[in-house]
Amino acid sequence: MMRVLSPVLIGLMLLSVHTEKTMKLTLEKNFLNIPVKAGADKGWLSLTVDGKAVKTFEVEIAPGKPDFWANVDIRAYKGKEAVLRMDQLPEDSEALEGTTQSDEAKSLEGAYQESLRPQFHFSPRRGWTNDPNGLVYYKGEYHLFFQHNPFGTGWGNMTWGHAVSRNLVHWQELPPAIEPDNLGAIFSGSAVVDTDNTAGFQKGAEKPIVAIYTAAGGSSPESEGQPFTQCLAYSTDRGRTWSKYEGNPVLKHIVGANRDPKVAWHAPTRRWVMALFLDGHEYGFFASPDLKEWDHLHNIAVPGCGECPDFFETPVDGESDNRKWVWTAANGMYLVGSFDGQKFVSETPLQQADYGANYYAVQSYSDMPPSDGRRIQIAWMNGGSYPGMPFNQQMSFPCELTLRAAPDGLRLFRWPVKEIRRLYRKTHRWKNIPLNPDEPFLPGLSGSLFDIRAEFEAGDAAGFGFRIGGASVLYRVQEKTLSCLSRSAPLEPEKGRIRLRLLVDRASLELFGNGGRVSMTSCFLPGEGGLEMIASGGPAKVVSLEISEMHSAW
Ligand code: FRU
Repeated sequence: MMRVLSPVLIGLMLLSVHTEKTMKLTLEKNFLNIPVKAGADKGWLSLTVDGKAVKTFEVEIAPGKPDFWANVDIRAYKGKEAVLRMDQLPEDSEALEGTTQSDEAKSLEGAYQESLRPQFHFSPRRGWTNDPNGLVYYKGEYHLFFQHNPFGTGWGNMTWGHAVSRNLVHWQELPPAIEPDNLGAIFSGSAVVDTDNTAGFQKGAEKPIVAIYTAAGGSSPESEGQPFTQCLAYSTDRGRTWSKYEGNPVLKHIVGANRDPKVAWHAPTRRWVMALFLDGHEYGFFASPDLKEWDHLHNIAVPGCGECPDFFETPVDGESDNRKWVWTAANGMYLVGSFDGQKFVSETPLQQADYGANYYAVQSYSDMPPSDGRRIQIAWMNGGSYPGMPFNQQMSFPCELTLRAAPDGLRLFRWPVKEIRRLYRKTHRWKNIPLNPDEPFLPGLSGSLFDIRAEFEAGDAAGFGFRIGGASVLYRVQEKTLSCLSRSAPLEPEKGRIRLRLLVDRASLELFGNGGRVSMTSCFLPGEGGLEMIASGGPAKVVSLEISEMHSAW
């Protein structure tokens, strides 16, 4: 017979094993270091100073050896008495006692050298990341903010992590820029340089960088009952420190979990425009003179799309007097059309930008200098697997987007930024390699990080491509499809040839066909097997091959 426990009894049983624990401490150093371990006791940990909770986050706190140390910046409270409280610890847990204070943020040895650490893609030093946020260029620096859980390798405690780069390949991670508060966790959004100081945040000589983000109400005990709203934070010191605007939110709740504002300057009307995800497949457009007061313009419904819009103007075929507006969704699907400051009118059907399994939450850089003028996009390579690592998830390699008049209409091309060459260690070149089905070509390179460029002629082959680490990349001649891992994309030969480019990192493959006409962004866990070039069903020819062995960016 089954014994049924009453909910009250279950509650009492739970209460008896888990309890709130507190620890008093005097804050003397720069950082509080919390030992984190996946699967350890999970609960809300809060740090109270002068009777006020100044930090609250959900953490799996390690009783013994941690996966990593989460570092809480406590510089602002030096000399104060504080209480650390965790709401859900087993009675006998000594987990809280494992926290330490130090002047240098405590970390494990060997960061960035871990076996699955991407070597030329950005990943956080430790903890979780998802969407790239606030991509903005200012005074020689590319800022990459990112959805971040500094306290765990799973999604949670959404914070804007922050890294900067002067060249899009070497990144330096800075302290988290925007942390959760009583309006909610800090969900995705964008950033702009407010060159004309429209919002009035400028203090000294530096132009303000303004982040426009979603406050995800209801995502923590302190934001319970709050809705999703859009808010501002700004920096007047080149992104080094951030203040939240005291008038937040600047855009009140509209519907559902409305989120992910992407803002751009519309010069002809001298207003900011915001693309915002509303709910379902619906997105809105808004305009503002000062980033603080927003007028609703109109909505669009785009079946098959949700979350994280991007919205930007870009030339067609590089011609500055022929420009179109491009709207993209989180999955990179895009519309091309016109925008007069009031209404976006799409002039194309919805198109697919990338055919890989791990391309999401795409965003492009704001405020690129006109002398450069590129539109550079980064995606979250969602869904990668990094077992045993102190970090989780990675970004795509930054790609330049160009809008081109292709035979079948206006198309976005994606191509790795040229700065990748900074990481070339050695480039090997071949010409006219015959590829026979029973004789793969083995370049004989021992490394594991490559940028490969190859041009093929199909000859009598049914298929040709690469094998690497157990994964295969194959062009099927009859079907005119390019496949990588489990996905495939349509690709027409050009002048009888197929050009493939493949970026190979520790846990990812990014494939580009015919100069970026298609791309396939994929995560994989490499198995046995080095790099081979293959043909099936008959001989093919590699007209030219260049393989650059890559340095690590770390
Ligand atoms: C997309 C997304 C966004 C949201 C963020 C939360 O991956 O769901 O819509 O703002 O992630 O982390």
